[in-house]
Formats: sequence, structure tokens, C-alpha cells
Amino acid sequence: MAGGFILAEESMLFDRLEEQVSDSLLALIALCDADPRADKIDVGVGVYRDPAGGTPILRSVKKAERILWETQETKAYLGSQGDARFTALIRPIVFGEALAADERIVGVQTPGGCGALRLGAELVRAANPHARIHVGQPTWPNHGPLIASSGVEMAPHPYYDRDSHEIRFDEMMAALREASAGDLVLLHGCCHNPTGADLDMDQWRAIADLVSDAGLIPFVDLAYQGLGNGLEADAAGARLVVEAADQALIAQSCDKNFGVYRERTGNLFVKGSNPRSAQIILGNLMTLARTMWSMPPDHGAAIARIVLDDPELRADWNAELKEMCARIRSLRARLAAFDPRLAYIDAQNGMFSMLPLTPAQVLELRLDRGIYMAPSGRFNVVGLSDSNVDTFAAAVVEKMDG
Ligand code: LMR
Repeated sequence: MAGGFILAEESMLFDRLEEQVSDSLLALIALCDADPRADKIDVGVGVYRDPAGGTPILRSVKKAERILWETQETKAYLGSQGDARFTALIRPIVFGEALAADERIVGVQTPGGCGALRLGAELVRAANPHARIHVGQPTWPNHGPLIASSGVEMAPHPYYDRDSHEIRFDEMMAALREASAGDLVLLHGCCHNPTGADLDMDQWRAIADLVSDAGLIPFVDLAYQGLGNGLEADAAGARLVVEAADQALIAQSCDKNFGVYRERTGNLFVKGSNPRSAQIILGNLMTLARTMWSMPPDHGAAIARIVLDDPELRADWNAELKEMCARIRSLRARLAAFDPRLAYIDAQNGMFSMLPLTPAQVLELRLDRGIYMAPSGRFNVVGLSDSNVDTFAAAVVEKMDG
């Protein structure tokens, strides 16, 4: 029966799906796990590693988890805003005390920085389907899919020169001067992913002037606060642009600075043009969150809240964060000292830098040496240990020599 046949074919719904290429960073985790070589070097996905190569749970986090286990009396729903106390405690860390008191800024808890970016993009789309988000290149590979899936158009502009290791600031500014009022500018708050090349304060000031003069809206991705040059310094640029702009968004993550990666812990903060508009924004954020994840996962936020509410745990967390930061800085210095061509790495910040290697050379390093890094040449500096940093640097320099 012809009709029946057509129906059967049409009902093969999932046969219509196209095969997907897996995310390049997440694919590396599986590839590296499957490699039996004892001396393999994992500088792929961005997680902090201690000198022994592990990603241990922070002391302060472990203690907070115990307190949570002992004191939590219910797991009843909290609502789409998440843990409001957690968001209130993160607020001054991101904005500083003065700006944190601004009633034009509202915040909701999100599933990590990804959730915050996606929720922000959804808010933009709901407010103006024609707004564009200007994004420097290269950027974190998931920015594109996250933003595009909300339907917001992305407009790329130059950010970094792989050969000179410099920020292409003049070209970036020229591109942003062409943006329309009401467009957004995605900015990495600190520890630029994938390049490690952060804007300096003069550059942040110039961007702050531009967004304020041209009516652009900064959308800051602040995923690594505390892992570059400390909590305050790492937020200084973001604070400048948020203060200068009438409206702004900050996607904040605790995944790295609390080391709670898989718990998916973050916030989206949005600045509206006035306190009334901010409350309408908050209502929209909760409605949008309800359609995507209903309410964010609680565990990571509850841990961070307990840490930040307890002066002793908070001091310990600060000390641990400083230790992580210092370790990243010392590995950067070691790499820079190995060869003048790696000197630029010391001037950069956070977990990542980019090596001037082709995807083919990156693949050779993986197959021949068991070195796992992103095809772009991005590597996680803190994936190295004291015992393999020189081996890594030697292999890279040899490859650069061709
Ligand atoms: C990274 O860039 O390695 C991290 O942000 C992890 C991720 O989700 O990609």
C-alpha cells in the first residue's frame, strides 16, 4: 500500500538527523583517557591540575560539602532564580562593593558559564531579534554554537595575531566602530580563551568609551576570575565597561575558581537602563530559564554560598585560589624561559595560550608524543607538571622548527 509506505518512511524521524562532529575539546578528554602511554601529556580541556597531575577538590569546597550534608534539611525546589543568597555573595566579587549596590543590575543563578551565555543570548533575542553580537576571533569554540542556537546573529572581528602574539586592537576597534547602536560586544573578562592575551587597562578604557558613545552593549564572559592576576584585577576591565554602558551582561562562572566544574555553577548578571527595567529583565530571565532548565542545579551554588558565608572557609578559598594562580604563573615563566620563541607565554594570563602550530603538527604531537591539545594549538598551561614541562616545551619547539 503506497500510502502506508510513505507514512512508514516519514515516521523514521531520527533517520533524518545528520551526523555530528563532536566538540573538539570534549573529544580530547575521551581520546586522552583511551591512550595507554604513561608519559602522555594532557593539555586539552581547561581544568586546573596540581603538580601530581590531578584535579583535586578544593579543601574549602570539601569542608563546605560536609557542612551541606550535615545541615541541609530539604531538597525542595528553589525556583528559576536559583540560590539567591549565592548570587548575592558572588555579586560584589564580580562588580566590587560600589557597583554591586547598583539597583540597575539583576542576577540569576545559571548552570555554569554556558548556561549564563545561553540565557543572555536568549534575552537578547527576546528583546531584539535583529541585534547582533560582535565576537573577536579566535574565541572559545563553544561561543558560536551557544549563541547561534538562540538565533542571535554573530559578527566576527579580528582579535589576536597568532604570529606576533599581539592583540589586533586597532582592527578590533575599527570593526566595533561600524557596529549599530544596540548591538552587543562579547568580551572575555580575563584569561582569554583560547589565546591567554588579555586587554590591558588602557584598551578596556577605550572600549568603555566606545560602548558608551556608540550605545553598544558589553556582554562579558567572566569564566576564570581569580586565575589570571587575582580576583580584583581580573574583574577590573569588566567593571569599567559595565559602569560605562547603559546596559550590559556578565556571564559569570564558579566552575574554575571553585574547581566545581561538573557541578555547573554560575550566574548571569544584567544591567538595565533603570531599576524598573532591571526588574522586568529579571522576570524575563526567570521565564526564559524556566523554558530551558526550569531551575539550575543546586549543589555547586550551595557549596560556594557556604564557603563565601563563612569567614574561615572564605579565607581558605582565597588562599587556594592564589595557590592555583601562582602555579599557573610559574609554569608560564618556565615555558617562557625555555626558548625565546615561547617568551610571549609569560605575558599572557590564565590557563590557556596558543602555540603557532598547524592542526597537522598538533596531530603529530598527539600521535608521536602523546601530547593532547586543541587542534587550534591552544594548550592548557596548567595541564603541565614540573616533571613534563620541559619535555613538552622541547617537543613544541622541535615542531616549530619543522
Ligand atoms: C575549555 O575551554 O577547555 C573549558 O571551558 C571547558 C569547555 O567546556 O570547553
